Amino acid sequence: MASTTDPATGDLPEDLEGAILDLKRERNAIILAHYYQDDDLQDVADVVGDSLALAQAAQRADCDVIAFCGVHFMAETAKILNPDKPVVVPDMEAGCSLADGCPAEEFQAFVDQYPGAKVLTYINASAEVKAMSDLICTSSNAVKMVEALKGEKIVFAPDRHLARWVMQETGRDDLAVWQGACLVHELFSAKGLARLRVQHPEAEVLAHPECDQAVLDQADFIASTTGIIRRAVETPDRPSIIATEDGVFHSILQQVPGKVLHQAPGMDESCSCNQCPFMRLNTMEKLYTALRDLRPQVEVKEDIRVKALVPIERMLALSARTRKRS
Ligand code: 13P
Ligand code: SF4
Repeated sequence: MASTTDPATGDLPEDLEGAILDLKRERNAIILAHYYQDDDLQDVADVVGDSLALAQAAQRADCDVIAFCGVHFMAETAKILNPDKPVVVPDMEAGCSLADGCPAEEFQAFVDQYPGAKVLTYINASAEVKAMSDLICTSSNAVKMVEALKGEKIVFAPDRHLARWVMQETGRDDLAVWQGACLVHELFSAKGLARLRVQHPEAEVLAHPECDQAVLDQADFIASTTGIIRRAVETPDRPSIIATEDGVFHSILQQVPGKVLHQAPGMDESCSCNQCPFMRLNTMEKLYTALRDLRPQVEVKEDIRVKALVPIERMLALSARTRKRS
């Protein structure tokens, strides 16, 4: 096979996609990719999804190896669910501002201020923080998970914007909230969005609950990544202005080619390319070498894994019940 040489990764085949698919077959691997990945990584994946869909795919994975194209906490969740399978990632440095902004020791001190409270943690957190939690949620099921804890005092971490939105949706105003934020979702410009709405008055504005209130105040539809994609696909003839990571556009345009999409601008108004710098560390080259060398691999200490598994499985069971009903 023809190859080129990369100083960081060694010999690389020219047909990277073909080589990845060959390795996938040889290894009996499954490739999971988040919607915030580069288009070529999404195209080579077996499952493309949001955090919940990828956790569900990891739970039912029937394979020998999981290659996870996303960020560290997602791959860690896959490892917690699959302790006997190697979980490889293209880039071990692909972290998350939310997970990194909630260190386990400080979080324990926060939780200790609310004795008897149930700890509901957004999946964007480390395995150690998950291990301290009673229940996990994603943005697709956060409202359901708060409702599942009816009558309980709740500590919610680590996204303060998601917490505020969930409180509005559930009518609860008593959650004790860890004050973290995502550097992608929080940094959309409310002023820039207002300007874009004036330019495109016919467009529907879609946004994530993890955005700032000044952005949500202008949104016609607020939902998780999957919800945003579904809404955009269901309204093919109406332009959408979307406050999201722009990897999401790939999936929408695959389903409704020609749909008019406008990216909500970030705070730096000279650029409308809202990309998660952690997600975008992953590349086809790094995925190829991860599958070839079976490294880097995500590891979780067994005592932490066993504790973190409980609230993750609780969430997956509650989400499955919700799906069957709807
Ligand atoms: P979802 O995948 O749950 O939509 O969350 C978006 C995100 O930022 C993942 O890190
Ligand atoms: Fe974390 Fe935000 Fe990147 Fe998602 S988009 S991985 S929440 S920094």
